[in-house]
Amino acid sequence: MGRLKAGVFRDTTPVKCELGVNSPVPLSVWAATVMNPTKPETQVADEGTTRMSRDTLSITDNRTGKVYEVPIKNDTIHATDLRQIKVKSDDFGMMSYDPAFNNTALCQSKITFIDGDKGILRYRGYSIEELAERSNYLETAYLILHGELPTRTELDEWTYNITHHTFIHESVKKFLDGFHYDAHPMGMMISAIAALSTFYPEAKDIFNKESRKKQTYRLIGKMPTLAAFSYRHSLGMPFAYPDNELTYAGNFLNMLFKTSELKYRPNPTLEHALDILFILHADHEQNCSANAMRCVGSSHVDPFSAAAAATAALYGPLHGGANEEVLRMLLEIGTLANVPAFIKRVKAGETKLMGFGHRVYKNYDPRARIIKRVADGVFEIMGRNPLLNIALECERIALEDDYFVTRKLYPNVDFYTGLIYQSMGFPVTMFPVLFAIPRTSGWIAQWEEMLLDPEQKIARPRQVYTGYDLRPYKPLDQRS
Ligand code: CMC
Repeated sequence: MGRLKAGVFRDTTPVKCELGVNSPVPLSVWAATVMNPTKPETQVADEGTTRMSRDTLSITDNRTGKVYEVPIKNDTIHATDLRQIKVKSDDFGMMSYDPAFNNTALCQSKITFIDGDKGILRYRGYSIEELAERSNYLETAYLILHGELPTRTELDEWTYNITHHTFIHESVKKFLDGFHYDAHPMGMMISAIAALSTFYPEAKDIFNKESRKKQTYRLIGKMPTLAAFSYRHSLGMPFAYPDNELTYAGNFLNMLFKTSELKYRPNPTLEHALDILFILHADHEQNCSANAMRCVGSSHVDPFSAAAAATAALYGPLHGGANEEVLRMLLEIGTLANVPAFIKRVKAGETKLMGFGHRVYKNYDPRARIIKRVADGVFEIMGRNPLLNIALECERIALEDDYFVTRKLYPNVDFYTGLIYQSMGFPVTMFPVLFAIPRTSGWIAQWEEMLLDPEQKIARPRQVYTGYDLRPYKPLDQRS
């Protein structure tokens, strides 16, 4: 029996096999047996001993007895390689079913690395701990977008260009003024980011490198302005214009909190804390909003429209809206004495412990660790947030409780950020906005990587149709 060519099926004589899908014998052993019925013992021996090793996966279709061999690359098989698995020649072919992309790699990426079991996060190979300690947000954004840390000249030019794209068209201001006084700032942000595409129609030229660069400056530069203006609108306060002499975080604080002073001077500790929080939120590989950015961007729409979709994805309470929900939850718990009863409700499935759990991290979120340290600095200046004790008690109980331990539920990035933001004077509704601003650099990097990847096409998943077969239209008078 010759070696199979990868991706090609081989007809085997259907063997009457005692093993089956419901058999206690592992499928791999069964498949190996079918592969080479004459020498089963060599097929099931330990790896690295007698079994021939090659980077392929053998699949036996027990409906037909056919064996398929598909290539393995990076511990992954290509889903379209399954399509050759058919019972009849005119069948569509086998698909993989993976609701919520639990085990599906959408792309190859060089941007962010996460090891969820070990609690590791790296941007372009640099550890999040080192970046939080030694970098600043704009430098980190450059790294995420360009793949390398900038030289001094590159950093100066980058910072200049972002800083000089912070102003928004006066008509955007009018547009923001049209929102109701109590509009949620995330709703305003989503709309305003989408509206930017109408101001910059040249942004549609997505395969033009210079155009992409310009839209990148605009998006990263204008996000804090849109966010601050949304906030000021909700307070009924006049908008405060950008101050190009301040840092990215410092200018944001200026646009939020400046009142009658001629020159706003941000508190350096708060400015630094915000900058670290921006670094921690800059990217997080294929999360819900990055996926929205890639998916919407794959239709070749302009980056403002795609970023509006990503912002909408971030707004949800299971994603970037979680920090808002954490604070509401801590307020609802109210006192330390109420924590055990609340945890009991969580375990009974009545509610969630917001800010806990993660699709990828099955260990302490490394960002949450850094955030706890940042919180200390902020609380020193602004006073200890009274909700902190409740948060710490929730964490203490959860980390010891079987329910959370067995499910590997640890605090995520959102568990402590809300407390810091609240202490810094932000209203709860601004919390997801504070996530959206820095995540913009990650979204653009993910979008650009998708656009330039020759393997990518318009994102268009398949479905398993489980609805009705063809049936005749029922006139209205015949329906019960
Ligand atoms: N509280 C209580 N139980 C939970 C929680 C939680 N926060 N998160 C997960 N579980 C349970 C869940 O009920 C399930 O239990 P069972 O196996 O008995 O059905 C098990 O843990 C696995 O959870 P899952 O929902 O299958 O996990 P997922 O990967 O689909 O969801 C998650 C991840 C982040 C959406 C979820 O953990 C969650 O809803 N957490 C609360 C919201 C939150 O904090 N979101 C912010 C995520 S980090 C910021 C970001 O990157 O967006």
